Amino acid sequence: MSDKKYKDILTGHNYDGIQEYDNPTPGWWWLVFHCCIAFAVCYFVFFHISIYGWTRDEAYSAEVKRNFDKQFAALGQLEVNGETIARFLNEPQWLDVGRTVFQTNCISCHGKQGEGLVGPNMTDDRYKNIKQIGDFGTVISNGAAKGAMPAWKTRLSPNEIVLVASYVASLRGQNLSGPRPPEGDVPPPWPVPDKPADAETPAKPDAPK
Ligand code: HEC
Repeated sequence: MSDKKYKDILTGHNYDGIQEYDNPTPGWWWLVFHCCIAFAVCYFVFFHISIYGWTRDEAYSAEVKRNFDKQFAALGQLEVNGETIARFLNEPQWLDVGRTVFQTNCISCHGKQGEGLVGPNMTDDRYKNIKQIGDFGTVISNGAAKGAMPAWKTRLSPNEIVLVASYVASLRGQNLSGPRPPEGDVPPPWPVPDKPADAETPAKPDAPK
């Protein structure tokens, strides 16, 4: 170091002829060091002790949930009936939400694609409990076969039941092969929704007119 006051003061050590100057660690280094310690203490208290500290995963889930709630708020409170379920058949954006509900709660018994497992195949034309599209709402809400198909009305909101019902109904006719043979009868085709489900939800401000 060229600074005059640090110059040439020896520590008095001597290792095989190598001597050491007593140059103190510069001020900026101590500043950074102490800032690091202060930061570590704040970090530890914030993230590991306080109730405000979020991991990135928690922050992400909270954001996803907020977004989900916002979407549901746009739908309002749906009624679980055939007309409502049919309304969403042509709404890929909402069927995606239904798919998420399905993947979270139903694939353990109905298979990843609805091809059936413990429960029946949802992708063929045959149904055990469904005579018309509204029956999806009833079966999903109340369960079937004495609880072999669980009742979901205490675990899912009406909106989630409607969307997962539409999603399951939309799987009809893909005929994916599953472990179970086709079960039940062939109900008439689902009604075609006469107006898009979004017609009643407020248009986004920047939506094209
Ligand atoms: C614990 C296993 C299990 C889970 C989880 C499950 N189901 Fe089922 N589900 C069944 C069984 C078993 C049946 C057949 C009932 C019968 O034999 O009448 C069934 C029947 C159905 C039916 C009627 C199918 C038909 O052919 O009549 C629908 C619709 C259905 N489930 C939707 C769902 C949805 C949506 C979810 C998720 C929210 C779900 N199920 C979760 C086991 C399950």
